[in-house]
Amino acid sequence: MADNAVDEDNRVAVVTGGAGGIGRAAVERWLALGWSVVAADLNAERGAELLAEVDGGGRLLFVPVDVSIEEDMAGLIDTAVDRFGRLDAMFNNAGIGGAFGPITEQTVADWDATFAVNLRSVFLGTKHAARAMIAGGRPGAIVNTASVAALTGGGGPQAYSATKAGVVSLTKSTAVELAEHHVRVNAVCPGAVYTELLHRGDPEHTDSWRREIQPWPDRGDAAAIADVAIWLASDEARFVTGTSVVADGGLLAATPRLMDHDLSHMRSMSGIAWGTTGRRAEVRRLAPTPES
Ligand SMILES: NC(=O)c1ccc[n+]([C@@H]2O[C@H](COP(=O)([O-])OP(=O)(O)OC[C@H]3O[C@@H](n4cnc5c(N)ncnc54)[C@H](O)[C@@H]3O)[C@@H](O)[C@H]2O)c1
Repeated sequence: MADNAVDEDNRVAVVTGGAGGIGRAAVERWLALGWSVVAADLNAERGAELLAEVDGGGRLLFVPVDVSIEEDMAGLIDTAVDRFGRLDAMFNNAGIGGAFGPITEQTVADWDATFAVNLRSVFLGTKHAARAMIAGGRPGAIVNTASVAALTGGGGPQAYSATKAGVVSLTKSTAVELAEHHVRVNAVCPGAVYTELLHRGDPEHTDSWRREIQPWPDRGDAAAIADVAIWLASDEARFVTGTSVVADGGLLAATPRLMDHDLSHMRSMSGIAWGTTGRRAEVRRLAPTPES
């Protein structure tokens, strides 16, 4: 095989946060594609459920880890390579909501813990996955889970949003650095995804604001985000590196919501406003619709 040519068979992925939500959806998708998968998670109970509920046919391994601890992450990558012989994709996906409340009440301990789980983890996962990928001499792909909260001020608590902005930035700098090794690095920025992280056991809870601010009518589900991550790690995305793909049902496209206050008014007319040019706006009144 030529240098850096892709071996289609026996691919191996490591997924952090692999016992729940988006991570578990990615584990199941990659298994269905014939890959071997190492799911890593702090929640060993959910890990046991994963192993009980998903038949990996000898291609699924669960490793309990804390993604914020370097020994755990180094050991995770070593375990994956020892067990399956190589590493093709690293999905740095584990995360928490972290510190919340007014900025004036935030503690340094809560702030730092949020950064350790959401951002140090991505540094550690990238560091050790890249080490293994470079040593393996094959192309590799690293995918990080960021969030729309990285890209706007209204998408999550302060510390959470700052960690995710850090993930987007780290994605770019490591993509530049690792390109010469044929290791691609990308991120996915989910919007509202109906995992336990969001609904906390009450899936109906967030439905009202979904209808108000997310243009796409269907709920975001874990598999929809996993599919983006898996595409980013696939050969179809072989020229994609250093980018963050937003998967949010149009949430960001619809913000800011400055038009909302007079949306019904806007539906009843069309025309053109000429700003401060001194030209009068041209207005065409529309026939009433059943909703207006
Ligand atoms: N659900 C959403 O709406 C949404 C939106 C944007 C971004 N995200 C991001 O997507 C990623 C996955 O979230 P999810 O919605 O699937 O949540 P989830 O809570 O269902 O799953 C996250 C998993 O990560 C694990 N985890 C947390 N801290 C860990 C640690 N220190 N070490 C190892 N594992 C740990 C949890 O045990 C859990 O199984 C997170 O990074 C989250 O910030 C989620």
